[in-house]
Amino acid sequence: MKGALVPVLLSLLLLLQAAGCQEVKVMAAVGETVQLQPKTWPSSWVAINWKVKLRLEGYWILRHDQNRTSANPLLTFADRVSFHPGNLSLQINSINSVTEKESGLYTMDLKLGDGSGITNNFHLFVLDHVRQPKIKASTSQECGWCYLTLSCLVPKAAGVTYSWSRGESSSPAPEDHSLHEHQADLQLEITKSGNNTFYHCNVSNAISWGMATIDVKPLCNYTSKCPLCTRHTRGARDV
Ligand SMILES: *[C@@H]1O[C@H](CO)[C@@H](O)[C@H](O)[C@H]1NC(C)=O
Ligand SMILES: *[C@@H]1O[C@H](CO)[C@@H](O)[C@H](O)[C@H]1NC(C)=O
Ligand SMILES: *[C@@H]1O[C@H](CO)[C@@H](O)[C@H](O)[C@H]1NC(C)=O
Ligand SMILES: *[C@@H]1O[C@H](CO)[C@@H](O)[C@H](O)[C@H]1NC(C)=O
Ligand SMILES: *[C@@H]1O[C@H](CO)[C@@H](O)[C@H](O)[C@H]1NC(C)=O
Repeated sequence: MKGALVPVLLSLLLLLQAAGCQEVKVMAAVGETVQLQPKTWPSSWVAINWKVKLRLEGYWILRHDQNRTSANPLLTFADRVSFHPGNLSLQINSINSVTEKESGLYTMDLKLGDGSGITNNFHLFVLDHVRQPKIKASTSQECGWCYLTLSCLVPKAAGVTYSWSRGESSSPAPEDHSLHEHQADLQLEITKSGNNTFYHCNVSNAISWGMATIDVKPLCNYTSKCPLCTRHTRGARDV
C-alpha cells in the first residue's frame, strides 16, 4: 500500500476513502501523532498549500514549494505541525481534542507544473479513549419476578455506542447472548433464569471500547411473596 497512511509511530485507526470523492475520513486518539497523506500524487507538483477549517474558522497551516516551507506562526498548534515533502505527509503531534479542538477539515492543495491543481480533503476526528464503564443496578421484586434497571455509566459519554450481552461467566464468552438494547439503560424482568446471570455492557467509539460486568444473581432472590400474584408490566420485556 504505497503512499497509504502507514501506522508507524502513529495510531490512525480508521481510514476510509469516500467513494468518488477526494475526502478521507481519519479517526485519531487524543495525544497521538497523526499523519495526513494523499494516497497518490503526481510527481510534477511544484507547490503545496495546507489549510484547515476548524469549526467555522479557516486557517492556513503551511506552504511548501520545492525549496522551502513556510508555516503559519499564528496557528494555535503550529509547534506540533510538520510537513514531510518526501511523502507529502502533514504530521501533527499530540493531537488535541480538549483545549483546542483540532478535529476539522484539512485540505491539501497541490499545484502542478502546468498550472493545474489537485485538492485532497481529510476529515479529521479526534476522539478520547472510552473510559472504564461501571454498571449501577436498581432492583425491585414482586411475585417471583425481579425487575432490574442496569445503567452503564461512563465518563465523557458523548458519541459512544452501547451494546449489552449476557452469559454464564464473569468474562465475556463466545456463547454469550447479545441483547438488542443499544442504550445506557437496560430494563429487565427476570424470573429464576438459569445460569445466564452475568450482564456485560460494552461501550465503544471508533477507536476504543471498555466493558463492565455485573452478576444479577445476588440482586434477585425471588423471596418476595405476593398474595394476589398480579404481574405488573412496566414497559419492560423479558430476555
Ligand atoms: C513521511 O516521511 C517522514 C520523513 O521521512 C517519516 O518520518 C514519516 O513517517 C513518513 N510518513 C508516512 C505516512 O509514511
Ligand atoms: C528552487 O531553487 C532553485 C535553485 O536555487 C531555483 O532554480 C528554483 O527556481 C527554485 N524553485 C522555486 C519554486 O522557487
Ligand atoms: C448451571 O451451571 C451449573 C454448574 O456450572 C450446571 O451444573 C447446571 O447444569 C447449569 N444450569 C443450566 C440451566 O445451564
Ligand atoms: C466491544 O465492542 C467493540 C466495538 O463493537 C468490539 O470491537 C469489541 O470486540 C467488543 N468487546 C468485547 C469484549 O466484546
Ligand atoms: C432479597 O433481596 C432484597 C433486595 O433485593 C433484600 O432486601 C432481601 O433482604 C433479600 N432477602 C434475602 C433472603 O436475601
